[in-house]
Amino acid sequence: MREINLSTKIGVYLLEECSEAEKKLIGAAKSATKNAYAPYSGFSVGAAVLLENGAIISGNNQENAAYPSGLCAERTTVFFTNASYPGLQIEAIAIAAWHNGKFTDEVITPCGACRQVLLETENRFKAPMRVLMYSEEGIYVVESVKDLLPLSFGDEMLKG
Ligand code: THU
Repeated sequence: MREINLSTKIGVYLLEECSEAEKKLIGAAKSATKNAYAPYSGFSVGAAVLLENGAIISGNNQENAAYPSGLCAERTTVFFTNASYPGLQIEAIAIAAWHNGKFTDEVITPCGACRQVLLETENRFKAPMRVLMYSEEGIYVVESVKDLLPLSFGDEMLKG
């Protein structure tokens, strides 16, 4: 038997250590929590993507009485963006969550299904997408979605 050890590099930043562009993207994700439709969980998530032309598009989670029919903030945002601007690369995504009357103290990290969708978008544009995960205590940053999804299943497997 042999063992494989995987490691992930995560940058941990305070908001004041972020660039102006990063602060703007995080601010857009935080603002987007206000329009979340989360009557069932009370957990309002906002996401904002930065496109290669500098535009920022934001979205949020949209829940449903039939729970699985709802959609997370990340997928709402990425699907809308790819539907509206199909040729434009998404360079980065920021995520923030509002819960119990405040932004969370713990970083908000994308669920497994959202990681898979973010990976598809990264592969589609053949360029890494940075992921900025906000909390009041600090911001986790990974340089590629692959860092959040080791041993992922992607389009290359369908070709092999
Ligand atoms: N949610 C997101 O929108 N993004 C995440 O990264 C995690 C969870 C949503 C789904 C559901 O509407 C609520 O948060 C509680 O799980």
